[in-house]
Amino acid sequence: FLEIQGSVMDHASTLAYLGRYLDHALRNSIDKGLPMIAMSPIQGKFSSMLVTLSSARHVLEIRTLGAYSSIWLARHMKGRGTITSLEIDPHRRDVAIENLQFAGIKVPDEVDVQLGAALDILPRLRSEIASGQRPLFDFVFIDADWGNQGRYFEYAVELTSKGGVIYVDNAVRNLVENGMPKDGQSEEDVDNLVKQVGLDGRVDAVVLQTVGAKEYDGFLLAVVK
Ligand code: DHB
Ligand code: MG
Repeated sequence: FLEIQGSVMDHASTLAYLGRYLDHALRNSIDKGLPMIAMSPIQGKFSSMLVTLSSARHVLEIRTLGAYSSIWLARHMKGRGTITSLEIDPHRRDVAIENLQFAGIKVPDEVDVQLGAALDILPRLRSEIASGQRPLFDFVFIDADWGNQGRYFEYAVELTSKGGVIYVDNAVRNLVENGMPKDGQSEEDVDNLVKQVGLDGRVDAVVLQTVGAKEYDGFLLAVVK
């Protein structure tokens, strides 16, 4: 916890306006009993830069948690677009809204936190897009239960505009911990996200390993063709 606080404070010196809100979001999330699995500050900065680089206007985030990442993304979008963020847990949703509002972010205009299981909400978003009620997303950030990464990815491809970006957090640890062949199995016997995405001709993708405040992990980054 102290380490995380410390690195937020380092970032606060270069991003003074944001550091205070991120600091509050982490502290309030801890006080309210949320798990400490938010992204690291460097990851927050990096993913918000990706949103800027891809000129994304409509961002979908699968799992809000305490909105730590949503605050990073929203402040970098500077009114350029909207974030739709899905959260299954009502208490986490409430804490997320407190943290967003403390950061001066308008809920739901700038960040719309939708309560429910992503696998229930995603088909509804797909219908809303199909009927012209909402635009395609151009950045999808998947950071939810690892066992469903592949299903979320499948929806993300359908919901994302051409040239849009899909970012899957924890793709490397999920692969190493859950996606490798066990004794007596071969590569053909296992299903994992990396294999799924590699075989998906609709996207161009890369997996990058990272070492940082959250130790060893990595993410998958895909661009929709
Ligand atoms: C953990 C880290 C994450 O980024 C996440 O989304 C879930 C769990 C972890 O360190 O356990
Ligand atoms: Mg994560």
